[in-house]
Amino acid sequence: MSGLRKEENQGWPNNVGILALEVYFPSQYVDQSELEEFDSVSKGKYTIGLGQDKMGFCSDREDINSLCLTVVQRLMEKNNIDYTNIGRLEVGTETIIDKSKSVKTVLMQLFEKSGNTCIEGIDTTNACFGGTAALFNAVNWVESSSWDGRYALVVAGDIAVYATGNARCTGGAGAIAILIGPQAPIVFDRGCRATHMQHVYDFYKPNMESEYPVVDGKLSIQCYLHALDKCYDRLTQQLQTAGIMTSPRLLDNADAFIFHSPYCKLVQKSVARLMLNDFLRHPGSNCTDSYNGLETFRGVKLEDTYFNKEIETAFMTASKPVFTQKTKPSLLLANQVGNMYTPSVYGGLVSFLISRPIQEIAGCRCVLFSYGSGLASALYSLRITDDLSPLSSLTRLVKNISDVKSCLDRRKKVSPKDFDALMKLREQTHHKAPYSPVGDTDSLFPGTWYLMSVDEKFRRQYDRKPLHPPTEAGDNGVDSGAS
Ligand code: ACO
Repeated sequence: MSGLRKEENQGWPNNVGILALEVYFPSQYVDQSELEEFDSVSKGKYTIGLGQDKMGFCSDREDINSLCLTVVQRLMEKNNIDYTNIGRLEVGTETIIDKSKSVKTVLMQLFEKSGNTCIEGIDTTNACFGGTAALFNAVNWVESSSWDGRYALVVAGDIAVYATGNARCTGGAGAIAILIGPQAPIVFDRGCRATHMQHVYDFYKPNMESEYPVVDGKLSIQCYLHALDKCYDRLTQQLQTAGIMTSPRLLDNADAFIFHSPYCKLVQKSVARLMLNDFLRHPGSNCTDSYNGLETFRGVKLEDTYFNKEIETAFMTASKPVFTQKTKPSLLLANQVGNMYTPSVYGGLVSFLISRPIQEIAGCRCVLFSYGSGLASALYSLRITDDLSPLSSLTRLVKNISDVKSCLDRRKKVSPKDFDALMKLREQTHHKAPYSPVGDTDSLFPGTWYLMSVDEKFRRQYDRKPLHPPTEAGDNGVDSGAS
């Protein structure tokens, strides 16, 4: 990819959006049906009740810095981007290992050889929303007078781990890098970005000694659905003003609805929730066919319905075809890796983009819902280009993420007992200094950065697994990106 050129005096750059994507998830997972047995819960609770099949997790060899180093270097390599062409880099994460030094500054190691130190942006934190906040900052920067003509790079990464108990099965881990610039194949619709923010203690991390959050599970679900209702209200108005929403129901106005996924069942309930919002807002006669049998719920108030099983079941049944067509394809990574926190909704976008032939992706409009407890949320829309010429940027973007399914298949399955032991090890060694990690590095994917040591002053050293196997000539295979 060549650098960009700022066009002077031409107003806002056009078609600002996503130019490239890269996703990284751990090379090991635990099977959720085996975890059900290990945790002695009823069979089907995690797999059917929550909709989760596998959960990715990290040993003590990986931390938030290594995840982000890995995903950034992979994006730069795969897309052949020169490090001098990045003018903004920021990280969204809630995996805090240092209260002062940002992950972004650690990533600056990758830029050392290029000599590029002129890069704006820093870390953003609010539960699973930090990645979206960073993404909005990046889009705003490119559209602003501060833009210097270079790319913005957004990184969202997290290690989602819970204490033993009912929330542990909703963990996960991973990172996503998103390259932002003008003339993009995936464009942010201007003015179509609805926000809802509020003060709530549904999920938070007050204990600096622990990786685990304090969670009120039920409250977090209610907050998530309430935030979706509020954002629905605002986005529908914005889409109407922009002339994008041409039929009365939001669910008819986009080809894909992609959600932050704490677990897949909540996403299915969210599609039902959008249908309930559509139903309550638009009683128009031309809409009544797909609402057959729902008329009895016409007078309900949204705030009374969060845990109303009758309404939930009725709208989940009615919205099942929409869910299957417009949302289920985006749940591959959520189902196979679990909740990655900040990258979750963008894992949904990646899953959607690789879910079908590119001809069926081109020209689609996607609505994305991002939620971070505490709480911060946004519902916004993107438009995918319909330019499919062989060298088009959409073709390149999709090609560069087309290895996701094979990477998922190449992962190593770990027994729940070993997973549990690794979680205990992380607990005991979290924030220990000095510390030498003991996790094996053989099973890491090629090109993965990993933690070598933490010294007595808490300074972390990393190394990278060779991208290619060593050659007979003695080449150790280490890529020359950064030391
Ligand atoms: N077969 C099929 N379904 C089952 C079975 C079974 N054997 N057993 C239970 N279920 C169903 C339940 O009926 C329930 O379905 P429902 O949600 O439609 O009512 C579902 O499985 C979950 O069972 P619960 O008993 O409700 O689960 P529990 O309360 O133990 O925990 C929770 C679920 C609250 C999600 C917990 O895992 C948690 O706290 N997770 C972390 C918080 C979270 O992810 N919040 C979401 C937004 S915030 C964020 O992203 C972090």
